[in-house]
Amino acid sequence: MGMPPAPPCILGGPVTFAFEPHPSPVPANEREARLVDPGFGRVFTDHMAILHWSEAEGWHDGRITQRVPLTMDPASSVLHYAQEIFEGLKAYRLEDGGLALFRPEANARRLQESARRLAMPELPEDLFLESVEQLVLAERDWMPTLEGGSLYLRPFMIASEAFLGVKPSAEYLYMVLASSVGAYWKGGARAVSLWVSHDYTRAAPGGTGAAKCGGNYATSLIAQQEAIRRGCDQVVFLDAAERRWIEELGGMNIFFVFDDGSIQTPPLTGTILPGITRDSILRLARDEGLVVREEPYAIEQWRADAASGRLVESFACGTAAVVTPIGRVAGPDYEFTIGSGATGQTTARFLDRLSAIQRGRIADPYGWLRRIG
Ligand code: PLP
Ligand code: COI
Repeated sequence: MGMPPAPPCILGGPVTFAFEPHPSPVPANEREARLVDPGFGRVFTDHMAILHWSEAEGWHDGRITQRVPLTMDPASSVLHYAQEIFEGLKAYRLEDGGLALFRPEANARRLQESARRLAMPELPEDLFLESVEQLVLAERDWMPTLEGGSLYLRPFMIASEAFLGVKPSAEYLYMVLASSVGAYWKGGARAVSLWVSHDYTRAAPGGTGAAKCGGNYATSLIAQQEAIRRGCDQVVFLDAAERRWIEELGGMNIFFVFDDGSIQTPPLTGTILPGITRDSILRLARDEGLVVREEPYAIEQWRADAASGRLVESFACGTAAVVTPIGRVAGPDYEFTIGSGATGQTTARFLDRLSAIQRGRIADPYGWLRRIG
C-alpha cells in the first residue's frame, strides 16, 4: 500500500513574498508633490503585495511587485457574485523616526473571520503580517510628513476562478495596496452631521454585517447618497428587524457619551463590524474607570437624551476617520443637535490618546504598536 499523497496546501510554511523592485518608480520630486495634500485613498505607492491561492497549491507565489492593472478573465466569479473581502489598517511614522503598524494582528484575525463568512480560504496570520510589513518597508518613502498623515493599507481578497456556477471559487488572489493619506474628511477635523436612514438597512441578522465584504459597502451607497442629498455628511443605519436600534455608519462605529460620564456603543450581535478602533476605545475607557455599556440604543432615546441634555456627546470611529465628533443628526421629520454641536471633551480626549499611542508620543501599555523599522 502506498503513502497517501502529501496535502497540497503549504499554509504559512515556506510561502513568502519575493521582492521585485519597480523598474521605474515615481521620481522623488513627483512623489513629494503628491504627498503635499494627499487626501484619502487617491495617492497610491509604486508597489503592491500579491499572493495566489488554488485548491491544488494552497497559498503560493507571493510577491511585492509593481502596482499594475490586473488582467482578469471577465468570468472571474468576483465580478459576478461579489466574493470579496478586505481590511483597512494604517502604518504610522513614530515620534522617534521608526515605523509601526497599529494592531495588525487584529486585522489579520478579522480577515480570517470575513473569509469564513464568505466561504473563502483563510489567510494565515503570519502571511498577512508579512505582506503588510514588507510592503510598508518597500514604500517607506511614501509616508506623508504632514500632520495627521499615515500610510493606509488595504489588504483584500477576490475570487478569481473563471466560472459562472454559484459556488465558492476554486482560486483566489490576495493583494495589499498602500495609499499615502492625510485626513479622511475634506476640510479637516470638524463635527460631522448624520442622516438616519429609515428606508435602507445595512445588515440583517444572519447576513454579512460583521464581515468586511465589499457587498456591504455597495448596498450602503444609495443611503449615503441620500444623506448627502439631505445636507448631511454621513448615513447612520438602524437595525433591519425593528428599524429602531442604532447600528453604525457606512464605514465607522458609533459611541454615545452621557452627562454622568458613562459611554455606550451598540453591542456586537453580528450585524455591525467589530471595529478595532471601537475595541481600542472601549479598552481606554474602561482603563480610565469610565462606566462602559455595550448595549442597544434606540433612535427615539437618542433624540430624547439629546433634548434633555442627558446625552452630551456622540462620535464615530474607525481606522480611516479615527475619532470624529457628531454635531447634528437628522431624519425624515426630525433634527437635533448634540451638545453645542462642536467637539466634546470626551471625544477630544479619546482622539488625543489614541493618536498619541499610534504615533508613539505616549507609552503603549497594551502592546498595540508593531514596530517594523
Ligand atoms: N464599521 C464599518 C462598516 C467599517 O467599514 C469600519 C472601517 O473599517 C469600521 C466600522 C471601523 O473599523 P476599524 O476601527 O477596525 O477600522
Ligand atoms: C477603514 O476605516 O479602514 C474603512 O475601511 C472605512 C472605509 C474607508 C471603507
